[in-house]
Amino acid sequence: MAIEQQREHWSSRWAFVLAATGSAVGLGNIWKFPYIAGENGGGAFVLVYLLCIAAIGVPIMAAEILLGRRGQNNPVATMQGLAREAGAARAWSLIGWFGVLAGFLILSYYSVIAGWTLAYVVRGAGGAFQQADSTEISRLFADLVADPERLLAWHTLFMALTTVVVARGVSAGLERAVRLLLPGMLGILLLLVGYAWVEGDVGAGLRFLFTPDFSALSWDSVLIALGHAFFTLSLGMGSIMVYGSYMRRGSSIASTTLMVAAADTVIALLAGLAIFPIVFAQGLEVGSGPGLVFETLPNAFGHMPGGRFFGTLFFLLLLFAAWSSSISLIEPAVAWMSERFRITRPMAAGLSGAVTWVLGLATVLSFNLWAEKKPFWGMNPFEFVDYLTANLMLPLGGLAIALFVGWRMGSAERREEFDALHPVAYNAWLWGLRVVAPTAVLVVFYNAVFG
Ligand code: PHE
Repeated sequence: MAIEQQREHWSSRWAFVLAATGSAVGLGNIWKFPYIAGENGGGAFVLVYLLCIAAIGVPIMAAEILLGRRGQNNPVATMQGLAREAGAARAWSLIGWFGVLAGFLILSYYSVIAGWTLAYVVRGAGGAFQQADSTEISRLFADLVADPERLLAWHTLFMALTTVVVARGVSAGLERAVRLLLPGMLGILLLLVGYAWVEGDVGAGLRFLFTPDFSALSWDSVLIALGHAFFTLSLGMGSIMVYGSYMRRGSSIASTTLMVAAADTVIALLAGLAIFPIVFAQGLEVGSGPGLVFETLPNAFGHMPGGRFFGTLFFLLLLFAAWSSSISLIEPAVAWMSERFRITRPMAAGLSGAVTWVLGLATVLSFNLWAEKKPFWGMNPFEFVDYLTANLMLPLGGLAIALFVGWRMGSAERREEFDALHPVAYNAWLWGLRVVAPTAVLVVFYNAVFG
């Protein structure tokens, strides 16, 4: 019988910060945030989103790291163990199951979109956007998504990239990947912001992002902003919990949380500042939905000096961002499978990758053969899975985490995890978790459903 394997850990506190930032910064920041801000009117939406990050996202992120670090196990076993420790109902372990399920569902469509970025790196480098007129560029995108075989090929390649990293384990896989990907992302992003500053209409970009027009805001937009706060911080589904479980005791949860949340927010705003000035300078539309960065942006790059180089860099940035997030989407499932069934990491990664790959077929087909099939409240499978996970499952998972840590966990155990934190900060966090976050989630849910 093999001796119980020691659980792997991050090599330092910084490695956790890098990995959690890598998880948080993803397609959500660079693909989704700009287009939902565009569809929901800009400024006012951005303001609500920032409020949700600060008042709801930050307290829940600290709670999720706390659970993971205390549990030292995969999300399912962590929640079972901590519920037992607190003398609470076993049902709390549903939080862990829910996370594994949400991870599969999110990654199933995330990987298809990430596949588009792979295709666009190749196209950008090949010069496909140069001198093409806007109808040709739109046709490039339309042709790609209309072809299930091509979408499937890119989805398969991206899932392979994800699986290979996760198969190698915590230090040789996850940590190694984020150490390479994050500096790359930051460098490219800064270059692109500089480029937008020189070549784009920065004033128009800033006005769009920061001038609130509340008449453009409905309760549905508020729900989208709330859901996006969870999505962009990777909250409510066990990614941050499982990353927290590879953290050693002794580093501050509070300052780590603030660093990750701040980095994610700054990067989302910087991405907006790289994208909108370019779109506005070319007189293009910001409300074009999921195609914003795949149609509108290549169109703009195609007409700008140095556009081939910077356009390719942009899609490389998107690819790196997606990759460092996808590994965290699948990690809860991989950790659970390998620890629960004592199978090797490569085996668990292969199995989880295969499950996600199959689920991804629904998204692949949503853009072509099933595009007109909208059986889910007027949504096609891709739109439905996105809405279900980001706007419903993540806030609900976050709500359950807030209630468990805020009300159900023993107060001594909870306090112990924050040993050095000032009592005022601790209490602010605790009441944010107990009252502010749950109330906000429920009010937004209520109004989005019945409002
Ligand atoms: N935060 C990632 C992004 O913004 C997506 C994600 C969601 C990753 C949930 C992990 C968990 O793209």
